[in-house]
Amino acid sequence: MAIPEDVIREIKYRNDIETAISQYVNLKRRGKNLVGLCPFHSEKTPSFTVYPESASFYCFGCGAGGDVFTFTGLIENLDYIESVKLLAERSGVTLPQDGYDDSMQRLKNTIYDINRETARFFHSHLMSPDGKWALDYLLGRGLSLSTIKRFGLGAAPDSWDSLINHLKSKGFSVNDMYTANVVGKSQKGSFYDRFRKRIMFPIINIRGNVVAFSGRAMPGDDKAGGKYVNTSDTPVYKKSENLFGINYAKNNCSERVILVEGNMDVISLHQAGFNYAVAPLGTAFTSEQVNLLARYTKEIVLMLDADAAGQKAIKRATQLLENTGLEVKVVVIPDGKDPDEFIKKNGPERFRALLEGAVSDIEYKLLMAADGINLESDDGRLRYLSAAAEVIATDDDVMTRDIYIGRLCEKYGVSRTALTAKVDELRRKNYKMRQKKEISEIIRPKFTKDDINPERRRSPKATAAEETLIAVLLQHPDFYDNVKEKLPPEKMVTGLNRRIYEIISATIESGRSLDISVFSEKLLPAEIGYLVSLQNSDKAGKNAKTVLKDCIEVILEEDIILNNSDSNNSSLEDWANALQNMASKKKKGN
Ligand code: UTP
Ligand code: MN
Repeated sequence: MAIPEDVIREIKYRNDIETAISQYVNLKRRGKNLVGLCPFHSEKTPSFTVYPESASFYCFGCGAGGDVFTFTGLIENLDYIESVKLLAERSGVTLPQDGYDDSMQRLKNTIYDINRETARFFHSHLMSPDGKWALDYLLGRGLSLSTIKRFGLGAAPDSWDSLINHLKSKGFSVNDMYTANVVGKSQKGSFYDRFRKRIMFPIINIRGNVVAFSGRAMPGDDKAGGKYVNTSDTPVYKKSENLFGINYAKNNCSERVILVEGNMDVISLHQAGFNYAVAPLGTAFTSEQVNLLARYTKEIVLMLDADAAGQKAIKRATQLLENTGLEVKVVVIPDGKDPDEFIKKNGPERFRALLEGAVSDIEYKLLMAADGINLESDDGRLRYLSAAAEVIATDDDVMTRDIYIGRLCEKYGVSRTALTAKVDELRRKNYKMRQKKEISEIIRPKFTKDDINPERRRSPKATAAEETLIAVLLQHPDFYDNVKEKLPPEKMVTGLNRRIYEIISATIESGRSLDISVFSEKLLPAEIGYLVSLQNSDKAGKNAKTVLKDCIEVILEEDIILNNSDSNNSSLEDWANALQNMASKKKKGN
């Protein structure tokens, strides 16, 4: 299972944590560390910290933390071995071939193979005489043959077992087909093709693998049961982290990306030359999708349907996109059409004009704020200006605010001082609310310290001492010799800290260096976050030796108390003696 340690160290050395994380997070220097908005939970003030000195990161908001491998694993959704492999690949380190378990990677590869073969099967069915109904439909919707090929579109036959039989003939097991979710299982345990008599859209990830399918029913097919059938999450696919069209858009969207609602919109736009459109896969737009886009583009144009649902989606998306550093624009398509219908009816030139006329998210919200207000009346104008001030107050850039304030003042004849004062007041209020919310989020992070170390309750005092001891040892491994005689691992009160202490001992005893990666394999991700937070705390202070001595004392005392009160066979008298013993020791010690 193990990749040799020197190889791990080499990979880590070549994948500098600051550079690695900068690919995903906008980092700003703060003292000797760097901070940014955490990619693992949503926040508005940065609590995600990178420590170049110890090559680690930690988020004070959600508790995520670790080294470059942990980070890569969390952000790319890989397990430990997979992220080691990915970083090895990125930095040109060759891994020794065998000796570690890659069964998960093998399963993923099998699913990729099944998906690719399935896409081929659907595509050739579409192109065969039996698939004429589907090809006619797609051509009838204005798609060219080359677009159909480019997107690998296909047709699922009207059959319960054609795909199963085809994949069997290629040597795949039904269980793997089921894991890939191209095959379903009935209550009686028999397998059947999930996609039947549908137009098939393969979903392809940034690395070019077919990861899932979206199957559209033919119009008027009442028995189809649902307009779309989609692949559920599988070991290679998470709906909330993928976007339809990203495999093409990623090469063309360095300036801007267009976010539309449906697969057909993406395909139509690509065909018309707008090859930088993507669509979320039948879910609301998610923060993972935002993170994905932020890696490739500067500007995102929201082009969602003009209906009520579309408006709600825009509101949600603009909120998600706040403070991501991405420029946000909104296009409202006239006549309640979707982009596919618009471009078919009006042509690419009119579409381009629509795109050029995209308004900023603030302008869009200012437009929406006027909805249903009579701007002819004084009362209406006042109401509108209050609503508008709220919109402007959400922007963190003082120049932008100033521009919009200026425009409104000119248009509605109010004084600049008055409107500026109003906006500033709202900003102060928002700031306080935001702080309150974030503080409560910090108090309630995803993993509280108690979730990670549930034994803390047994003795908060001992646990705190253990944590300090571990923190000091991580920073000053040379003090280990002082500690090891006085504190055998079994005296540690909480199991987690005992495990950590044992790893520390074993590592130092064998003459290796104490690096976070020695823990990565043996601890859970949340536990690594906990460890990194200890490593980077300044618990050691100036006088590490004294601090260690105090910690050991507290742990040993608590160990005696707990062991005596825990075991029923020790008498009250013994316990009192033990306490007295301790009290006199303490006096002597000082
Ligand atoms: P639409 O109903 O707008 O479909 O759903 P569409 O893409 O415009 O398709 P056409 O033009 O009618 O052929 C938008 C997107 O929402 C998801 C699909 O990804 C679709 O592309 N969706 C919709 C589902 O996942 N399931 C559904 O039942 C409906
Ligand atoms: Mn449509």
